[in-house]
Amino acid sequence: MKIMIINGPNLNLLGSREPDTYGSKSFEDYFTELQFKFRNVELSYFQSNIEGELIDQIQSSDKDFDGIILNAAAYTHTSVGIGDAIKAIATPVVEVHISNTFSREDFRHKSFISPNAKGVIIGFGLKSYNLAIQSFIE
Ligand code: DQA
Repeated sequence: MKIMIINGPNLNLLGSREPDTYGSKSFEDYFTELQFKFRNVELSYFQSNIEGELIDQIQSSDKDFDGIILNAAAYTHTSVGIGDAIKAIATPVVEVHISNTFSREDFRHKSFISPNAKGVIIGFGLKSYNLAIQSFIE
């Protein structure tokens, strides 16, 4: 099983960014834990702050992976382009968010990803990624 994790803008700052909301662990450290935990899964990871690079990565991941886990971060709430990219590919996408976006500002309640996602996992901290991997395995 091959899974691609794609993280959007500012998620390169996990660990130092708003730790009350996003925790104090870097994604690189968490990714190492995920690789250890899911030794039978081939996990890949890509992060960009640039919308077009995220779209390029979604397109180029199509068919090479059994699933994509996408946290488009702030672009979740703004990007028609990323929503369209998910619609355009065959590989299933699970949308994840670290924080519970529905308990936050109204502008975070709208997602351009959800309508085209296989499923959505929101609000479990970094564990949201773990749960998304489980959803592909089981
Ligand atoms: C986020 C939630 C978004 O609203 C926010 O812009 C992020 C992170 C999350 O994982 O909780 O950058 O996607």
